Amino acid sequence: MRTEITHHGQTQIPPMSTQTEQQQLDPAHIMQTATSFWSSKVLLTAVEFDLFTQLGDEALTAKQLGSKLGIHPRGIYDFFDSLVASGFLNRQGDGQESKYTNTQNTSAFLNKNSPTYIGGMPEMLNNRLFGFWNHLGEALKTGQPQNEIKLNGKPLFEELYADSASLGEFLDAMTGFQAANFQQLGEKFHFENYQSVSDIGGALGLLSRIVGQQHPHLSFTTFDLPPVTPLAQREVDKAGMSDRIQVVDGDFFTNELPKADVITMGNILHDWNLEKKKVLINKAYQALPEGGALIAIENLIDDARRENLFGMLMSLNMLIELGDAFDYTGEDFRGWCREAGFKHFDVIPLAGPTSAAVAYK
Ligand SMILES: C[S@@+](CC[C@H](N)C(=O)[O-])C[C@H]1O[C@@H](n2cnc3c(N)ncnc32)[C@H](O)[C@@H]1O
Repeated sequence: MRTEITHHGQTQIPPMSTQTEQQQLDPAHIMQTATSFWSSKVLLTAVEFDLFTQLGDEALTAKQLGSKLGIHPRGIYDFFDSLVASGFLNRQGDGQESKYTNTQNTSAFLNKNSPTYIGGMPEMLNNRLFGFWNHLGEALKTGQPQNEIKLNGKPLFEELYADSASLGEFLDAMTGFQAANFQQLGEKFHFENYQSVSDIGGALGLLSRIVGQQHPHLSFTTFDLPPVTPLAQREVDKAGMSDRIQVVDGDFFTNELPKADVITMGNILHDWNLEKKKVLINKAYQALPEGGALIAIENLIDDARRENLFGMLMSLNMLIELGDAFDYTGEDFRGWCREAGFKHFDVIPLAGPTSAAVAYK
């Protein structure tokens, strides 16, 4: 039987519950999490090589796929079979002549020829955030951002939008991230009770385009910074919705928000510190009529801060990106909105870790 020496030097038998816990000890979860960046980097590199588009509808051997992607023979089986074992490729048969194909999900979401491509977010994770997260320790010790603005101290959006490649990459990443959430918002929120929507920080106008298709009676304003709005206008024109979606440029800290029955903010409040969050909530209150609604679409953290791991990791990502910006709980949102004068509140779960926090004036 196992015994323990106490700090008084006496020998004791551990209580039953400790014995049971010790029989169940298992380091697997620790090791899985500690190495999970390996799996993550395999998927991100596959997206970087555009593997899923290159493979398309074909069935290719490892050698054929490897030479199409320009990969050295040393890595081909390990790389492709890791993707098979993680569920991102199918393989017909075993051995060198077996053939790799896309799965239903990689065909739909990671093949650039698919209209539902969401590779923009993995591309940004790979190009920017993978490296920046290596400095999480420094971010935690200093409270300072660890990205492009770490050394030059510029506002993040000014830095990102200074060249068209990083502007495009950021906006594509947002698109991949939110499409399923906006779709569900359109299904679950009672838009039939309202006539107009202003989407603040609307990026490429995705919310207006998706919810607009679901609710033809609504008219929209999508509001964003001047470098973004020409790209939003192009997407709105492409969707044939320019008669119902007005694209307006401005700065939400210096301009009034465009008035509407519903004001939406998708991943906006989490970009700012508490003081600026409250400024935006107050501006939304001013721009809404009595009975109007402010909707924040975010990876809302559960009130006890125990369950929505993704929401908490997103908040750490905001530390890496912006320093004092942070994600928050439904209770936090209710408190700030109550202070601004809003009367009723609701939380609507959307896709995966995302929810819509709603405040009614
Ligand atoms: C994290 S993105 C969210 C985009 C989109 N709402 C979504 O849910 O995917 C933040 C957006 O806010 C816009 N933005 C940042 N600062 C702004 C400002 N001062 N005025 C207006 N828009 C701003 C950015 O250009 C960007 O499109």
